[in-house]
Parts: sequence; structure tokens; C-alpha cells
Amino acid sequence: MEKLTGLKKIKTAVFISGTGSNLKNIIKFSKLKKSPVSIDLVVSNTNLAKGLKYADQFKIKKKVFNFKNCKKAEKDTYILLKKQKIKFICLAGFMKILSKEFIRKFDGKIINIHPSLLPKYKGLKTHNRVIKNKDRLTGCTVHYVNAKLDSGKIILQKKIKISSRDNPTSLAKKVLKEEHKLYPAAIIKIFN
Ligand code: GRF
Repeated sequence: MEKLTGLKKIKTAVFISGTGSNLKNIIKFSKLKKSPVSIDLVVSNTNLAKGLKYADQFKIKKKVFNFKNCKKAEKDTYILLKKQKIKFICLAGFMKILSKEFIRKFDGKIINIHPSLLPKYKGLKTHNRVIKNKDRLTGCTVHYVNAKLDSGKIILQKKIKISSRDNPTSLAKKVLKEEHKLYPAAIIKIFN
């Protein structure tokens, strides 16, 4: 991977589709001296993403692209990323699968957070599946994005115990709390 570190913080975009609690958390982290990244752009595939409000709140440029035409959306996203000199991308609850052509253009510079102990439970509805299978352990994973869904090299992982009283909702809450610690830790790990 091309060396990204330097005196200045690395210009980073966060891609979201939903609530944006990870986005908010990463923005707050990015303001700290120890953060190697600055958040300069928020991208979403839908203007219904509640998390877009954090872009406004923190005065960060935001842009919504219509991924119904994926090719065009990716092309327009790429043009904007280049224009804004974005060097690093954090996916945080982004519900679209990026094409391998797009990923190749940012090879090794796109990371994602997933609410399971990958390689277990790739894809959606992880907490429902974990509870259904009566697992005793779950967690979250930050990984590089490659052409295969939730399959890139793992950067950091956190294990979380499941209690017999947990249900998918309580588990999602527990895991999200850990995600908020794990994502910044993974970013620090990458650039240190
Ligand atoms: C998180 O659980 C993340 O792991 C998954 O989508 C959820 C996004 O939550 N990829 P939020 O929008 O950051 O609150």
C-alpha cells in the first residue's frame, strides 16, 4: 500500500446508508490529535440516511449518489473523491456493494466495519443468525474491502459475550458500543 502517513491528516471519506452512529464516532475521533485521518466528505446512497445530519452538524461536505445506476454513481463518486483529494475511505453501514473496478482504484484504502466475528456471519442480519444459532460469542470486525463481500483482510476484531437474555436488538446495541471503540483503534493500527 502506498504510504499515506505524513504531517497532515489523511483526507478521508465515510460512506453511510443509515443511522450513522459510527460516522459520528469517527468524526469525533478525527478531531483528536492522535487521529491520523480527517473526515472531509460523507457519501450516501440515500438522502434518507439519518447520519447525513452529522455532516451538517460538523460542517463536512456531504453528497448523495443514486446507486440505482451503480456504474454512474460510482463514476460520479470517484470524480468527487479525486476532486476532494480523498485518500482513504471508511464504510460505515454503507448498504451498497462497490464494484471490483471501484475497489481497485482505491486498492488497500477502503475499510469496513461488520457486526460479527468474520469470517462468520458475512452479509446481513448477523445478530438474528447469531441468536438463532445459540452462539455464546459474537463481536465486530474492521477489515479491508476487497471484491468479495465481507472477506478482506482483517485489521481488528473484538469478541463480545452473549448472555442467555440477549435478543437481536440487545445484541446489536452491545456490538455497536464496541464498534465505536474498534473503528478508531483500527484506523490507528493501519497508520502506525
Ligand atoms: C453497524 O452495525 C455496522 O457494523 C454495520 O451497519 C451498522 C451501521 O450502524 N455495517 P451506524 O449507521 O453506524 O449506526
